[in-house]
Parts: sequence; C-alpha cells; structure tokens
Amino acid sequence: MGKKVLVLPGDGIGKEVMAEAVKVLHALDGGRSRFDIEERQIGMTAYLQDGTPLSDATLDAADRADAILFGATGGPAYDALPAELRNATGLRLLRKRLALFANFRPAFMFPELADASTLKREVVEGLDLMILRELNGDLYYGEPRGIRELPSGERIGINTMSYAESEIERVAHAGFQAARARRRKLCSVDKANVLEAMLLWREVVTRVSRGYPEVETSHMFVDAAAMALMRNPRQFDVVLTPNVFGDILSDAAAMLTGSIGMLPSASLGAGSKGMYEPVHGCAPDIAGRNLANPLAMILSAAMMLRHSFGLEPEARRVEQAVRGVLAKGWRTADIRQPGTRPAGTREMGDAVVAELTR
Ligand code: NAI
Ligand code: MG
Repeated sequence: MGKKVLVLPGDGIGKEVMAEAVKVLHALDGGRSRFDIEERQIGMTAYLQDGTPLSDATLDAADRADAILFGATGGPAYDALPAELRNATGLRLLRKRLALFANFRPAFMFPELADASTLKREVVEGLDLMILRELNGDLYYGEPRGIRELPSGERIGINTMSYAESEIERVAHAGFQAARARRRKLCSVDKANVLEAMLLWREVVTRVSRGYPEVETSHMFVDAAAMALMRNPRQFDVVLTPNVFGDILSDAAAMLTGSIGMLPSASLGAGSKGMYEPVHGCAPDIAGRNLANPLAMILSAAMMLRHSFGLEPEARRVEQAVRGVLAKGWRTADIRQPGTRPAGTREMGDAVVAELTR
C-alpha cells in the first residue's frame, strides 16, 4: 500500500513547480508504487471549475491523505474575491481543519548561493536556522474581530491576539523537540513587555523548557529579534514564534538566503500527517513562462518524506540531488549568476531527476 499523497498544485507557478516535484517523487520511487498520488484543484483554478476554492470532495481527500503537497494559490482574480470567502476556505481552512499548528520554515544557505544574498557573505555563510511559527492561533483567528461602527459613526477595526495555554504548550514541545535534533538552542520570540497574550506565551514556553534541560533556551522581544536576525543570523538555531510575528520574521529570514524560490516549509500537527509547501506564492508576474524555480517545491517534498513518511535516507537523497544540480551550475533566473548554466522550471526538474537516477 502506497502512502497517500494529496497533490494540490493551485494557481500560477504552483502548477509548474508541482509538476517538477511530482516528477522527482516518481523518479525516487522507481516504479515501486510507494506513493499513491491523487491530484486535485485548489484556489482560483478550483473556483473557476467548482465554484469554490476548496470543495468538500477535496477536503475529504485531505482527511484521507497521509500527507499533502501544496503549490500556491492566488493571483489578481483570486485576491479580488470577497475576503470572507478566501478566509473561510482555501489554505486557512485546510490548516485549521487538519490542526496543523506547527509551521517549520528552514532558512539555510547553500554554499553555491552565498553570493545571492543581499547581506555580506561573512554574515550569511553557513546559515542554518529553523523558524517554527505557530499556525492556529493569534490575531488571525482570535475573536472578536471585524469592522464595527461606533455610536459616533466612526468605524473601528478589531482583531484579537489570543492564545490558550494548550496552544502554546503544544507548539513549544514541537520546538524543543526540533531543537534537540538540531544544535540544541531555542529562542522564543514574543512581546511580553506589552501584550498579555505574549506574557502568557513566555510563561508557558519557560515552563515547557524545564522538560528539555539539554536545550539552551532564550527569549527575545520581536523587535530585538528582527534586528538580531539581520545583524547576526547565525546565532540562531530554532526560533519559536507566535503566528503573526512568525509570518513576518520568516519572510525576512527567507530573504537572508537570497531567493524565495529555494525555501520549503512543513506544517505539522499532532500526528504524522503534514502539509508541505514552498514559502513563495503563485508569482503571477512569471507564471506560465517556465521561469519559476522549482527547488523550494522539490525541497518541500523532501520534508514530506522525512516528517510524514519517516523516509530520512530518501529525503537526504533529494536534498543531495538539489545540491548536486547547484554544484553543476544549473540556475533558474532568480538565482542566476555569471558563468552558470541557465535552466527553466522543467530543465531544473529534469536536472534533479538526472542527479537522483545517476
Ligand atoms: P510571490 O511569492 O508569489 O512572488 C514574489 C516575487 O518572488 C515575485 O517577483 C515572483 O516572481 C518571485 N518568485 C516567487 N516564487 C518564485 C520561484 N519559485 N521562482 C522564481 N521567482 C519566484 O508573492 P506575491 O507576489 O506577494 O504574491 C503573488 C500571489 O501569490 C498573491 O495573489 C498572493 O496572495 C499569493 N500568495 C500565495 C501564497 C500561498 O499560496 N501560500 C503565499 C504568498 C502569496
Ligand atoms: Mg507570509
């Protein structure tokens, strides 16, 4: 029985990079049928086809799946749909429904790409950190929310930062476990000096940390953390953040390494099921032109092999293959450097497959 993989390419370059990731999975499998791949639509593509960005049939498929590979959704037409519709369906619904509360976003520097960063080589060389962003709480889900009218007639916009102890606890455990398997350092980010929800965050993280004495724990206010990430990013191993701060810091951390087209992510829950996706969006500006870098999507598939299927050697093989194509000089436009070999989306996918099956 193959592992059930639900493939959701989505919109724009989501489709293009997913095709390459699926190609890599097939190559890795070599006809052994270890993966049972089902493909469905999500986002604008699904809306045009089914009248909803995320159909019940696709939700059912997500429930049945062992893991989900997600490309990207969006584009001008999708972003113009009513916010209620996009908030209540699509990606946000999927994350909540599957209780995927731990979003792991590694930011690491491939040695071949050390000059692609806007920061100095000596600041980012050897960078290898893991942002763990809580994904099911905070301002994005807290009640009350909305735009109300005051008696004066003026309108007021409201969102609520709220965290239950259990929500903080579970993501903190995920963070310390990750740190234990890495360089045993965890920095928790909050704004405990100003916000009560964050005061509780720090208290609970501190309590959980006592169960992991081998991990060196520190706490930073989010503003200081933003500075430290730019000034000396290599001081970090695991960075544990609430949802909103993590949204911002993880994009900043992603940019340390040069290209958004290189960075994968994993969203995990309590079990082995997870959703794996590149950090980037559907890139309407380059969609349909064989320009997108598929490596973030391919590296997301590697994270799936590792975290959902326990296939560590296979995950490493895919990561090594990516290193291999970079070492051979293959570059998509986003990471192009003088003297390298230009590749489109498909050529990059083919190069990874060739490296895997060498
Ligand atoms: P984006 O990530 O789609 O694009 C930002 C810039 O990076 C663009 O110039 C794009 O060409 C480039 N880029 C992104 N991925 C690339 C890749 N693999 N290779 C080469 N270059 C790449 O973010 P943007 O422009 O803010 O949003 C575009 C659309 O995507 C919006 O509709 C947005 O809502 C949606 N989006 C969806 C996400 C998701 O589905 N998880 C995440 C972020 C944005
Ligand atoms: Mg973001």
